[in-house]
Amino acid sequence: MSQTAPTLRPLDYRRELQAPGTKHAPYEAVLQVAELPLGAMRRVTRGDLDILLANTPAGIVATDDRCPHMSAPLSIGDLDECIVACPLHEGRFDLAAGEIVQMPTTGGLDPDGRYHPVWTASGHEPKSDVPGRKAEARRFTRVRRLRYYPLRIRDGRIEIAVPVLPGAETVVNARE
Ligand code: FES
Repeated sequence: MSQTAPTLRPLDYRRELQAPGTKHAPYEAVLQVAELPLGAMRRVTRGDLDILLANTPAGIVATDDRCPHMSAPLSIGDLDECIVACPLHEGRFDLAAGEIVQMPTTGGLDPDGRYHPVWTASGHEPKSDVPGRKAEARRFTRVRRLRYYPLRIRDGRIEIAVPVLPGAETVVNARE
């Protein structure tokens, strides 16, 4: 019996997490579906906007390619099913739900404003948070939920809706 390939579809995100400025934004083709196999991530840049495209078991998703903690590029992190791990501070985020799975090692505030203390990843030396302005900044840094760009698939191409930025070109960066 032959196996059928999984159907490629956009991830069905929570509407309240749609990125600002995208409600009436035009769709633009950014990548061939074949260029984004299951488990792959790509960065697409439009003007000063960096967007992460990821192909997860729950569907293809477009979100900011900026960690919702301190803006590191998630596209160079690791993707495991729907969970993307940030290359800095061990933060982990659920691309399907938009939620934090693991707070960054620095601690701080979660999206609902609850404080989480500094923690140490297993296998690392315990960290002490030296009091001072930097510790205060870490404590008050809020990690927000992910925000999503509308995405559709037409004629084998992935199209996303991004705010119009006059004169901005779209560049696709593939992770080697
Ligand atoms: S920048 Fe991603 S966890 Fe800190």
